[in-house]
Amino acid sequence: MRLILVGPPGAGKGTQAGRLVETYAIPHISTGDMFRAAVKAGTELGKRADEYMRSGALVPDELVIAMVLERIQQDDCKDGFMLDGFPRTTPQAEALDAALTAAGIELDAVVQIEVPDELIENRIIHRRQDPETGKIYHLEYNPPADEAVRARLVHRKDDTPEACRARLDKYHAETAPIVPFYAAKGLLKRVDGVGAPDEVEVRIKAALA
Ligand code: AP5
Ligand code: ZN
Repeated sequence: MRLILVGPPGAGKGTQAGRLVETYAIPHISTGDMFRAAVKAGTELGKRADEYMRSGALVPDELVIAMVLERIQQDDCKDGFMLDGFPRTTPQAEALDAALTAAGIELDAVVQIEVPDELIENRIIHRRQDPETGKIYHLEYNPPADEAVRARLVHRKDDTPEACRARLDKYHAETAPIVPFYAAKGLLKRVDGVGAPDEVEVRIKAALA
């Protein structure tokens, strides 16, 4: 299964990807997670990405495209992958399309998780992540049961109200325009992202069945 998850910040891409990759036994490729790991490791790529990410701007296409095309050529992607947060611009979608066509590979589906703008800020501001397991929580909707986990949760640097608004603006201006590109190919599955994560998961699996 070769899938793309697209949706605004806080749509639940990471939350749903974490569940779907277990069902379909494919690697979860999150460009946001890859950049955060590079920032943490202090690599050259991380240093370049950090300033863009903090403000909610997009990392330049050439850095992202090279990173993803290299990643999907690795052995564990032979039978499929789940892309989360890529492509996010028209040049990224075109570069991926060209690379897959050249390799004779086809996508199975592009799942667009739809959540209205007014619900996004709450999800982002109260999001926390467990640095040890990578698991995503929400302080109101999905807090960890374990006190030790709660104590080690971290807040993303770009989860401020200002960066959240900038990311949402970028989504509408740069990312939403790739949706018709996939609709025209007959790959688009639109899924309502409002409701409990379990309900959204059922909807995505039904759309993919
Ligand atoms: P990235 O990490 O991809 O961030 P994003 O797209 O802004 O998405 P988020 O991770 O914020 O949200 P999500 O949809 O994964 O939601 P989540 O499941 O966590 O990118 C970060 C930055 O990296 C970008 O701004 C850019 O700078 C750079 N970057 C990355 N890819 C790039 C690219 N291709 N090109 C250029 N730059 C790139 O859920 C959010 C919260 O909601 C959580 O608290 C969760 O618990 C809660 N939640 C989830 N589902 C539900 C639900 N159904 N009901 C209630 N709460 C829910
Ligand atoms: Zn995410």
